[in-house]
Amino acid sequence: MDIVLITEKAAGLIDIPEPGACMVLPAEEIEAKIKALPAGADSGPHFVVAFTHADEFSLVRNCLSSPRETPLIYQFVLIGTASDLSGFSSDGLQNISEFRTGRIERADFRFIVAKTMSVLREYFKAVTIRNEHLAMLMDVRRDQESLINIGKALSSEKDPDSLLWLILFLSKKITGADAGSIYLVEEDERGTKRLRFKFSDTFARDIPLEEFVIDIDRGSIAGYVAVTGQVLNIPDAYSLPVGTPYSFNSSFDRQNDYESRSMLVVPMRNHVDEIIGVIQLINSKKNPSSKTISGNEAFEIALKSPDDFRRYVVAFDAKYDSLMQAVAGQAAVAIENNRLIEQIRRQFEEFVKASVTAIESRDPATSGHSFRVARLCREMALAVNEVKDGYLGGYNFTESAVRELELAALLHDFGKVYIDLAIFRKSKKLFPKDFENLKLRFDFLYRCLEIDGLNREIERLRPGPGGNVKTESFAEMLSERDALLNGIRAIKEKIVNMNEPAVTDDDPEELLSAMLADIEALGCRDIEGNALEVVSDRDRTNLSIRKGSLNEDERREIESHVVHTYNFVSRIPWPPEFRNIPEIALRHHEKLDGSGYPDGLAGRESTMLQSRIMAIVDIYDALSATDRPYKKAVPLHETLEILKKDADEGKLDPDLVALFISARIYERAVRAG
Ligand SMILES: [Fe+2]
Ligand SMILES: [Fe+2]
Repeated sequence: MDIVLITEKAAGLIDIPEPGACMVLPAEEIEAKIKALPAGADSGPHFVVAFTHADEFSLVRNCLSSPRETPLIYQFVLIGTASDLSGFSSDGLQNISEFRTGRIERADFRFIVAKTMSVLREYFKAVTIRNEHLAMLMDVRRDQESLINIGKALSSEKDPDSLLWLILFLSKKITGADAGSIYLVEEDERGTKRLRFKFSDTFARDIPLEEFVIDIDRGSIAGYVAVTGQVLNIPDAYSLPVGTPYSFNSSFDRQNDYESRSMLVVPMRNHVDEIIGVIQLINSKKNPSSKTISGNEAFEIALKSPDDFRRYVVAFDAKYDSLMQAVAGQAAVAIENNRLIEQIRRQFEEFVKASVTAIESRDPATSGHSFRVARLCREMALAVNEVKDGYLGGYNFTESAVRELELAALLHDFGKVYIDLAIFRKSKKLFPKDFENLKLRFDFLYRCLEIDGLNREIERLRPGPGGNVKTESFAEMLSERDALLNGIRAIKEKIVNMNEPAVTDDDPEELLSAMLADIEALGCRDIEGNALEVVSDRDRTNLSIRKGSLNEDERREIESHVVHTYNFVSRIPWPPEFRNIPEIALRHHEKLDGSGYPDGLAGRESTMLQSRIMAIVDIYDALSATDRPYKKAVPLHETLEILKKDADEGKLDPDLVALFISARIYERAVRAG
């Protein structure tokens, strides 16, 4: 609306041609009059040319510049004296198009009004174009920012389900969609590809999700997009044009009292342009009072009544076709990355398990040990997470930290592959073969002495020169021989007993020396005439073991398995979240009092919590395992007593042992396994 506003004071200085067409008012009444102006029919601005006396300018300008629903675009024509101008700053001159010092004649008035109105319209046009360009630029910028943010968000989400949720959330946000679904292409054993309905979300409706599979063909909307790779922007799924190759299945709408009207369906293409899924967005929502979609509509406008669907649902803006294609491309890459990472993880874990199984199958005595230790470790980590106080209360195992511990546990005894199996199986002081040989040599000695005795007998019966018979008593000779043979038998028996790994107070070395001196005194020789070595140096070393069945060298070799494990496991290029695996495995035989190996580290701080957990469950499994051929399983209560004793003696972490027992980790692991 065009308004010519003239104050009463200014009106006295103007020859107004049509006073009825102008708004002539005292300056004080202008504010009320302006406020009461009706809104323009096309909601455009009012253009105002205001004729004012210079001393009323401030008052009238304040009235025109106050905020209002329909904007005013105005210019002033001031009438006053030359001295009035000196009071204006450059800012104040902005809205003044004319300044007159004398009376304004009729023709002049018409010219001023027409010229000023034309300037106002030009100005409005320029501002409108500028604003439209600005809005477009802002839109493009917002879309670009959305894409960048979506790329960032999608690349950092590692959980497959959360990733699908995020893809749908972001797609809905940028398009203002009320609902959406994601379908993923999958392949069955025969190589037939299907489309699996994987994830769906509808604002303000809690609709239970049930996965289902559909054929990939042109009959359904999602199938059509998956086959052709085309983007479908459907203004109204209920009014598909005749001849449309696909059809809309309205069963979901009927079941859930919903109306799927507008749809935007885009294919998800991976880096080699393969379609790996489809994003289907439903019902773009727009607030009738706003020009654009801000993104809040997706989560603020609820579609409840049929009227809501008519009021708020609009067709998806064409600009979303390409924008959603870009989003779907990023989503496809993120899904593929997750799949590949998961595949690599699974392959690697299966490889580790297969290797451990192969190694453990060398010795039935340890079969399954590493798997049980891994399960027990997992349960211990979860139990630590439940502890709220004490020093364990400060620990929390994330899911990847639990996986790290499990992998370390699976591999903890891997280094045993480098060690002679016979040493692991050695349950007596002598290896079975050495023991058999030793016994045979005793038997040989026995027989030698027996033959010796017989020879002496023959010698006695043979008449001497001149027919003299030996005077040696037969009975004496027999008892001497028997005493000798019994002595050998007794020594053999003692040595057989010494082969047992029992702990004795006697010094085995001293005992052996005495026995061997007796044998040596017999002066027995082998067939080559060399002194007969019944007990070899190696047998002697082994029979002198004071505790257990292993000599020093063998014990050191067995202990070296942790270093072999460390060296082997360190060569694997673990991802950062598994970087502690070598260290955890290396320390599973360290003891808190420094009596462990390989480095005899003392104190809680010197080893990681994970290693201290593994130390406990490793001992538990070694004692309680029931499948060892040469060793019976220790009953549960005794096993727990041994763990408690080790904790009391400062060998094992007492808090962890207490947790192991109180949380009944051994039962949990059986249930979980
Ligand atoms: Fe070990
Ligand atoms: Fe072990």
